[in-house]
Amino acid sequence: MNPEIVYCEYPDDVAEAAAALLLELQEEAIAERGVFRIALSGGSTPALLFKLLASADWRDEMDFANWEVFWVDERAVAPTHKDSNYKLAHDLLLSKIPVGEVFRMPAEHENAREAAESYARTLKGRFTPKTISFDAVLLGMGADGHTASLFPGTPALESGAVVEAVEVQGNAIPQRLTLTLRALNSAQAVIFLVTGAEKSARLRDVLIDNDYRYPATRVNPHEGRLIWIVDDEAASELSD
Ligand code: 6PG
Repeated sequence: MNPEIVYCEYPDDVAEAAAALLLELQEEAIAERGVFRIALSGGSTPALLFKLLASADWRDEMDFANWEVFWVDERAVAPTHKDSNYKLAHDLLLSKIPVGEVFRMPAEHENAREAAESYARTLKGRFTPKTISFDAVLLGMGADGHTASLFPGTPALESGAVVEAVEVQGNAIPQRLTLTLRALNSAQAVIFLVTGAEKSARLRDVLIDNDYRYPATRVNPHEGRLIWIVDDEAASELSD
């Protein structure tokens, strides 16, 4: 693993650094192919970034009309549900910008396997040649080392598919769809946003010890960039 690590003082600075990086990545992608394909995560960390991108400072910098927006994972809820990853991005960002095309994960479909296959077909239809390679994937990491909806010790980690239906033990909404490692590791750039002291020990396990028990350690694009943007609290155990 040879990640670029961007150290920031506070969560707001993490959002600023991520916005600046997305500006650079979208320019490269749009210059080359006329489109910027990004996969978004849920959870609480990207909220600051979404708000920032929708703000007057950033809105006009971004070429949102040429963005195609996808998701890294989604819970089996309607897109209007408070726990929907789509809703988070829609409310804070997508409803406020002139965005190109939006492809949400249909995780509320009663047949989860079919929903996963259907999203994989959607992805394959957008990428030419057929290799699914996002220009940017935004990821978070849980304190247990999960990323996307890939949890330690679960079979989805070994999946050869692009999208998997998974069940998360002990979660109020256990059914989810998630991109697999295969999809994440084919990206041009993967950006982890990690903030908060509760993740500092795990960040050390992943970035210093390369502990493969944690799914976040296994995200390492074959040919793309791997960038971790972390705040001081999350990074507090990296230099001991
Ligand atoms: C989700 C995510 C998930 C998230 C991590 C970190 O839908 O929950 O995609 O992988 O990124 O759990 O979540 P926080 O940002 O809330 O800490």
